[in-house]
Amino acid sequence: MANPTPIIVAIDGGAASGKSSSSKILAERFNLLHVDTGSFYRQITSELLKQEIAPTEQAGLEAALAGLDLSTQLDGRSAQMLINGQAADDEIRSQTVNENVSHYAAIPAVRQTLLSYQRGQIDESQKHDFRGLIMEGRDIGSVIFPKADFRFFLHADPAERAKRRAAEGQTDSIVERDRIDSSRKVSPLTCPDGAIDIDSTHLTLNEVVTKMSDYIATKLSPA
Ligand code: DC
Repeated sequence: MANPTPIIVAIDGGAASGKSSSSKILAERFNLLHVDTGSFYRQITSELLKQEIAPTEQAGLEAALAGLDLSTQLDGRSAQMLINGQAADDEIRSQTVNENVSHYAAIPAVRQTLLSYQRGQIDESQKHDFRGLIMEGRDIGSVIFPKADFRFFLHADPAERAKRRAAEGQTDSIVERDRIDSSRKVSPLTCPDGAIDIDSTHLTLNEVVTKMSDYIATKLSPA
């Protein structure tokens, strides 16, 4: 049954800090909708690259963004964003998107386009009888849901994170992405005041999940 007051769990952190792996397990454990907002920025980036609109083309960019119809479908317990009815393809994890996504994500109009869409995922979680949602990204605890029930911030040493990405077979300049994501003017990647800071460098995935799970269990019993 849907919770009358949906629980909101925010997980922020740099690239390859373990957000996705931990939030998928927690979503399953507590019956929450899983929302990976990084995939939304990747999808918009992929779409704008296809339309050949550079981050610097302000007018073209705003017109293109206004033409995007965003909707949601579920993939298991994860929210999948559809752009004009189309789900993301493998391209969103490509090297080209890895190299460009932070530049598009720094543009206020891009962030504005996703703001209400992301907040609207609460309604999706209710519609599908989840007990709330777990949303991962860079600005979830600071901007999207500053009053979330739980706000976690995951840290990990860059060398360890690069190793994780390489193990997934990906070429990803995580340090460069973090630099751009942390220094942008709008909604930079930062550990918000009051968030629960977890350094996962020397922790296994299971240990990270247990830490977060113990906090969440103070409000919500496992499903
Ligand atoms: O989580 P990820 O590495 O797949 O995210 C890809 C990029 O999207 C990330 O480098 C910055 C951007 N992003 C963002 O700016 N804000 C979010 N809430 C999520 C991602």
